[in-house]
Amino acid sequence: MTSLKPPGQIAGQRTVAIHHIERLGSDAVMLQLGIPDGTALSYEAGQFIAIHLPCGATRCYSMAHRQQAGAPLEFHIRLQPQGVFSQWLVDALNDAKVLGRTLSISGPYGDCTWRPLQSSADMTILLGGGTGIAPLTALLEEGLAQETRGPITLYWGGRQPNDFYCAAYFEALARRHQNFRFVPVVDTQDTRWKGRRGFVQDGAADDFPNLTKANVYACGSPIMVSSARQKLITQCGLDPDRFYADAFEPSVSIRDDARSSPRLRVQLQLADGSERIVQVAAGTSLMSALRAEGLMQGICGGQKSCGSCRIETDAAWSAHLPPPDRIETRLLAALSDPRPADRLACQIHLTPALDGLRIAIPDRPL
Ligand code: FES
Repeated sequence: MTSLKPPGQIAGQRTVAIHHIERLGSDAVMLQLGIPDGTALSYEAGQFIAIHLPCGATRCYSMAHRQQAGAPLEFHIRLQPQGVFSQWLVDALNDAKVLGRTLSISGPYGDCTWRPLQSSADMTILLGGGTGIAPLTALLEEGLAQETRGPITLYWGGRQPNDFYCAAYFEALARRHQNFRFVPVVDTQDTRWKGRRGFVQDGAADDFPNLTKANVYACGSPIMVSSARQKLITQCGLDPDRFYADAFEPSVSIRDDARSSPRLRVQLQLADGSERIVQVAAGTSLMSALRAEGLMQGICGGQKSCGSCRIETDAAWSAHLPPPDRIETRLLAALSDPRPADRLACQIHLTPALDGLRIAIPDRPL
């Protein structure tokens, strides 16, 4: 079995050791990682970390529990057909010697974290699909630990009954906390299932037609997150500022068609003060182009949730860029030492009009 050694080139990375691994349901794996020197990784419920593979690829996974002293980090990982890391995990499931082997991680990242309710009677809705249940579990634990009194409802979407691999945990929580309700939802016609059917966002909209006094968290595929945002805001009156999301793709990659696109020049000021001009492909995001040059991590793949693509724009070029949307603005403000010229490179689409764009890559911690 190939050892996944740290690549040794990612800023802020640390080494962790495999503590436990087991299969979850039909196509997911639980991976627990311990920090060998015993120091804790400080994170907020709902955040994620990046695991760096020796081939240079990065995979992002959310912690599946709120932080607990001395506990290993736990992740729920959907197995992807022909995925590099998925194959490694499948091999690891059958390798008794895998425990104790090391991996390299960086983070934490993400701002889909627990937010105080405006009123103690306000409700909380948690929407998750598949292994998107992991960050929602951490958020739920955080909400209950903070003795949230308003109703909390968790909708977990799956394709078949055995996708709900930790349903017993939520059912036990529901017995202990009167304000918590767990609603598993199957989105196929599987005849073995006798419970709710449909999509999680539809279930929430049907159950709660008025969400004007609610916080909503959605974790899962970009399609589910985008549909939930649109539906709950327009149909149920949810305040857009109270919709918190972590959308994730199975993996991140650079579009193949970028290689044949016209080339643009981007003038860079690097963190050490040096200057450089790079030729990048039009039609991609600035983050993808700079990541291809090895100048940026782009941990979340452009989902506006990590901040690892923060840049500073040159004043003369700022007016040529479309303004940041609400989510980008919120993430930039949540990063450390925010500045007015900050932007997310993943939200800048490279068009021929941006030939000669001048930016700086800051050396500021996230
Ligand atoms: S790549 Fe994560 S916010 Fe831009």
